[in-house]
Amino acid sequence: MSKLNDALKDTRRRVDEMLDKLLPVPTGLEKRVVEAMRYASIGGGKALRPFLLMMTASMFGVSKDDSVRVATALEMVHSYSLIHDDLPCMDDDDLRRGKPSCHKQFDEATAVLAGDGLLTRAFEILASEKTWMDPVVRCELVVALANAAGFHGMVGGQMMDLMAEADEEELSLPEIVRLQSMKTGRLLMFACEAGAILGQASFDERQALKTYASDLGLAFQITDDILDIEGSVEKVGKTLRKDVKANKATYVSVVGVDAAKAKAKELIAHAIDALTPFGERALPLKELALFILTRDH
Ligand code: IPE
Ligand code: IPE
Ligand code: MG
Ligand code: MG
Ligand code: MG
Repeated sequence: MSKLNDALKDTRRRVDEMLDKLLPVPTGLEKRVVEAMRYASIGGGKALRPFLLMMTASMFGVSKDDSVRVATALEMVHSYSLIHDDLPCMDDDDLRRGKPSCHKQFDEATAVLAGDGLLTRAFEILASEKTWMDPVVRCELVVALANAAGFHGMVGGQMMDLMAEADEEELSLPEIVRLQSMKTGRLLMFACEAGAILGQASFDERQALKTYASDLGLAFQITDDILDIEGSVEKVGKTLRKDVKANKATYVSVVGVDAAKAKAKELIAHAIDALTPFGERALPLKELALFILTRDH
């Protein structure tokens, strides 16, 4: 596992370097929003999505140097989703990545704008010639990320999450699976999809990666929900034991911790199975899947 840890750290370093380059602080009054964007995106988090993206691309011969801008765009969208997720009108969380969440460090209006700024900057980067020469590939990336982040994906899932929280009635298991696949699964799926787009993967290869990422995404949110109950605040870097109080609809809230753990295990086994056609090339993706099952942060 320590090899994976080193690889994740290396990904974090590369993405941080690129974020630093792509988010220069202006001198005018707008400076504050860029400072908040940098605060929320640089130097924190596990960098799972960029890792997935870069490792998938490398399975098809695309170098890390060539995929890091796309990976950074994805991390920007992820960081934006976390800023907004923590706002008082959403999950109302004061701690993120072991430090005050963006609206605590700055203020709510700045945090809203920082999220907006990261989201729009991400698409500017994807559409740039510096990111990839072929405009068809760039368009494919833009459409795929918009799909994963928008109301078909993360934004839609977040809406369902809030609706379920306010609702007296419990969601059914299939409804929870849909909610979690959208709010969390879709951005993780984009990581693999983007790697496959950059690498010009075949239809069958894309399908296999889709199966892998979809199971991985659901397992990832299940383990996030388990960590909310069993995790240590120091390791996770977020305020925990909030989901039950907030009446969140999670896999755990319906079937309990033990059955949720069994489900995560089953999903990860299935995800790894889907990687069979790639053989040794998929080793980093397999290791990441195993990490998700045993993670403590
Ligand atoms: C947190 O994602 C939000 C969820 C989708 C559960 P991560 O656990 O990947 O957050 P960071 O990037 O490591 O902080
Ligand atoms: C996922 O769910 C959040 C996003 C899609 C941004 P959570 O609300 O459970 O994520 P955490 O626990 O705050 O990181
Ligand atoms: Mg949330
Ligand atoms: Mg939250
Ligand atoms: Mg959570």
